[in-house]
Amino acid sequence: MENLNFTFISGATGGLGSQFAISLATQGKNLFLTARSDEKLNILSDKLKEISPNITVLKFACDLTNSENRQEMFDYIKENDVKFDALINVAGADIQKTFLQYTEEKLTFQTRVLFEGTISITRYLLSISPNGLKILTISSICGTLPIPYFAIYSAQKSALVTFFDALRYELKKDKRFTVTTILPGSIPTRPDIIEDIKKQGLTGKLSQKSPEYIVKKSLKALDNRKKNYIPGFYNKVVNFFQKITPKFIKIKIIASKFSNKEKDAF
Ligand SMILES: NC(=O)c1ccc[n+]([C@@H]2O[C@H](COP(=O)([O-])OP(=O)(O)OC[C@H]3O[C@@H](n4cnc5c(N)ncnc54)[C@H](OP(=O)(O)O)[C@@H]3O)[C@@H](O)[C@H]2O)c1
Repeated sequence: MENLNFTFISGATGGLGSQFAISLATQGKNLFLTARSDEKLNILSDKLKEISPNITVLKFACDLTNSENRQEMFDYIKENDVKFDALINVAGADIQKTFLQYTEEKLTFQTRVLFEGTISITRYLLSISPNGLKILTISSICGTLPIPYFAIYSAQKSALVTFFDALRYELKKDKRFTVTTILPGSIPTRPDIIEDIKKQGLTGKLSQKSPEYIVKKSLKALDNRKKNYIPGFYNKVVNFFQKITPKFIKIKIIASKFSNKEKDAF
């Protein structure tokens, strides 16, 4: 892989990750894709080669919750001397339920895929990229406040913002490194999310932004070296008002929106 630079995308086969892959392939970027499903990675990789026949697409199926599996991916990168100039952290899982309904297995799954897997990839890629790395991470507007019945998701997304803000400070003296975190509202990616947005009525409609929009704005925010970016005017306004609202009031409002929802993932 001499002389080639790659963009690493986690969660590459999902609604948002695949849009990042398509946009970057269109720009002629070489891509390293990961997610758990080998089959989905192959389908995506074939599609990208059709879009942009001259790019190189590498893929490695990896369960980010499994540290041995992550190590196998890092070993593959090392053995093939793959070099990176950008990292896009997209992988995630959005289990929604009361905390007491969680099993130990689901709890470890969600925390590992959202946080441990993300910072593990970030650490490894930084360790092999002494000449610079652009790091873009997809958090969520849910990471800006505590959300009852969605507590693990909102806490882990918040942890990502805190972690990457701190990392950005650690790397700030070297302009070859960029650290940007995106906090999107709703994105109509999977059928269950599209259904959820519909049920929210006007607020769902106002908050949602297409994967294409999120990708375009996220890549622009990364190019402009923004620290945090909330896509969409409505989401920015909501964030402003929730910041000036006392916590005991906003937690009550947000709890009423999430108390009737339940969603699983593995
Ligand atoms: N959609 C929204 O409304 C919304 C809003 C704000 C933020 N976000 C965030 O945006 C990101 C992408 O969301 P999306 O809507 O595109 O979801 P999605 O379609 O469900 O995509 C999730 C991606 O993560 C991968 N993944 C899940 N568990 C994994 C694991 N254990 N190891 C490795 N990869 C794993 C999935 O691939 P495999 O299943 O093949 O592993 C898939 O590629 C997530 O971080 C989400 O929290 C989404």
